Amino acid sequence: MKDMFKLDNKVAVVIGGAGGIGESLAAGLAKQGAKVAIASRNIKKLEEVARKIQSEAESEVAAFQVDVTDERSVEQLVERVVSKFETVDVLVNSQGVNLKRDPIEFPVDDWQLLFDVNVKGVMLACREFGKVMIGKKKGKVINISSVRGILGTANGNVGYCATKGAVDMITRALAAEWAPDINVNAIAPCLVRTEMVKRAVRPESIKTFLTRVPLKRMGEPEDIVGACIFLASAASDFITGQILYVDGGLTAIG
Ligand SMILES: NC(=O)c1ccc[n+]([C@@H]2O[C@H](COP(=O)([O-])OP(=O)(O)OC[C@H]3O[C@@H](n4cnc5c(N)ncnc54)[C@H](OP(=O)(O)O)[C@@H]3O)[C@@H](O)[C@H]2O)c1
Repeated sequence: MKDMFKLDNKVAVVIGGAGGIGESLAAGLAKQGAKVAIASRNIKKLEEVARKIQSEAESEVAAFQVDVTDERSVEQLVERVVSKFETVDVLVNSQGVNLKRDPIEFPVDDWQLLFDVNVKGVMLACREFGKVMIGKKKGKVINISSVRGILGTANGNVGYCATKGAVDMITRALAAEWAPDINVNAIAPCLVRTEMVKRAVRPESIKTFLTRVPLKRMGEPEDIVGACIFLASAASDFITGQILYVDGGLTAIG
């Protein structure tokens, strides 16, 4: 049973893998035996994190620069990852931005940036890595969505909520398009202690929010790792098109 979760000889790509949730996911996949490519814009940070993860896991970890809003950059990422590791078995889309803006003043440029990174960036990565997976008729895609894809909220979140709703539907639609060969699922966390939350959420809002979370605490990046290993591994072979809520019970109570 334990072997169902092993990822030996698999190649996993984690976009947004040099910090926050993505770094924990990359480290978790490496510890399960996967070779891991981490990618985002900041190559210096990526190289540091790759060295750190590789020294802690007995797996190869490599760093690649990408800007997911740029089509050619994503195409080049796929070329470079395949040239290094020969294939791709697992894609994790953990890139994202959160810009909170008053709905009646929402600047169009901010709306565009949210959709460029959170929606276009996810779709471009799915499209380009999907080509590799479709070619070999096997693969797992894991998109990092949010409870904000299903639960509306005030406090300037309309843009972010809209992007995560779109990620949920990209997940379901690609699961239908690419069945039966490729599994496409999403993980939807609630508040997780990362730089994104430090930047975007006020401490008093966190306190109020936690009163509604049955498990009464914020998530840590490590809380997301088990779900990711599950969705990357053979243990989830009969699961596709699902949004897995790792949210301390928030969506169970509405
Ligand atoms: N933290 C939470 O409470 C929470 C809750 C639910 C869902 N999520 C989702 O979880 C994912 C990870 O978030 P996090 O909390 O770990 O935030 P984070 O620490 O800010 O990580 C975001 C990552 O996205 C990368 N990124 C941003 N723009 C990019 C671009 N144009 N091209 C490539 N990479 C880009 C960043 O790397 P570079 O700066 O190097 O490009 C960074 O690694 C996001 O999708 C977020 O929406 C977070």
